[in-house]
Amino acid sequence: MRIGVFGGAFNPVHIRHVQICLKIPEEYGLDKLIVIPSYNPPHKRLDSDNFFVRKSMLEDALAGIPKIEISMLEYNSKKNNYTYEILSDIAAEYPDGQLFYIVGGDGLEAFDTWKKPEVILSLASLIVIRRPDYNATDKAASELTKKFGARIYISELTEADISSTYVRTLVALGETDGDLSGCLPHSALKGVLSGRYGEMYGGFGKYVDFVRSVSGEELFAHIKRTVLAAVKCNEKAGLDGTKVFLTALLHDASKEMIFERTGSLDEKTDILKISADFIKELSNGRLDVEYYKRLSNTEYYAPCNTLRTSVLHQFTGAETAQKVLGIDDAEILDAVRYHTTAKADMTMLAKLVYLADKIESARAYDGVDAIREKAKTDMDGAFKACLERNYAYLKAKGIKIYYLTEEAHSRYCAESDKA
Ligand SMILES: [Fe+2]
Ligand SMILES: [Fe+2]
Repeated sequence: MRIGVFGGAFNPVHIRHVQICLKIPEEYGLDKLIVIPSYNPPHKRLDSDNFFVRKSMLEDALAGIPKIEISMLEYNSKKNNYTYEILSDIAAEYPDGQLFYIVGGDGLEAFDTWKKPEVILSLASLIVIRRPDYNATDKAASELTKKFGARIYISELTEADISSTYVRTLVALGETDGDLSGCLPHSALKGVLSGRYGEMYGGFGKYVDFVRSVSGEELFAHIKRTVLAAVKCNEKAGLDGTKVFLTALLHDASKEMIFERTGSLDEKTDILKISADFIKELSNGRLDVEYYKRLSNTEYYAPCNTLRTSVLHQFTGAETAQKVLGIDDAEILDAVRYHTTAKADMTMLAKLVYLADKIESARAYDGVDAIREKAKTDMDGAFKACLERNYAYLKAKGIKIYYLTEEAHSRYCAESDKA
């Protein structure tokens, strides 16, 4: 009996998973495909730890596909098992079975970091599904074959560039039309839309609704693209997914809000020392462009003679996040506060959101594609390239550069200056 084993968080299931469940049994003549949702996915990316939500979505999505068995093996053991343990259990259950373990190209390339690879490879053949942006899959396969005598088959299935993280982000953004319908199997989408699975992915609804309510359509579209770009960059950067999501979502939250300033200004340190009164006067209306322009041309709003509205909103954005939305995470606030100017001491989160803001899918300046490409493998390098490009752009335009940007440039781009 030829048995496929397909484990994953399925958080949530998406069409790529469905394609695998449809095609792989056919391609490899499997008699059965055991699909094993993990007990509890690692908590770093907007995770729902509700096993039964993930399992219901999986059942909905795979309903009607032949030869599928959804397994409770992980849940029953009440822990996340290593792959070698899962395969040992299945091998014990099917002593005459020939096992095929399904793994993504990313997993294969990192296979030597897996626990007991030799046991895995003695128990099962591997069926590899290529992943976009993982180009060393063939090399990894031939090395494993040499080293362990592994039996590795690379599937014909070309994988759509969809990840569960991407789907979670769309759900969290409330993007229930367009993109999401291209990612989720129809039955699972229906379940999301009808609320059958309950509130999913962190309950970010109030933040999303707020940002939507204070942003014009175009700005909100930019914010959503920035969130998606940030989440994409984070697939390899591996920072806290909730922080990445919230920072990107809130980065331009105050950009089109009307507000009156009553706080005092402090030129070098805070720019705007915004008082509680100031925050009370924040309103949810649309930006009055003329009014805003007038303010930005006064000395109050240009203490360094470089402070433009394009800089101001990063400070008011952080204040808004903190005082209106109650965000108290210092790292998120800091990343919002410097997302436009950058500064000399940036966390990885701040760099990532700075970068995502400037490489989101609608950005179309010269060199953006190269920075996007770099961001796939080297987030820090892409951030530096992006800062360098922005700096050069401002210089070329004759715009006086804000002191924080000068400091960031000296700190992060010194090497390229010398070159
Ligand atoms: Fe911004
Ligand atoms: Fe932005």
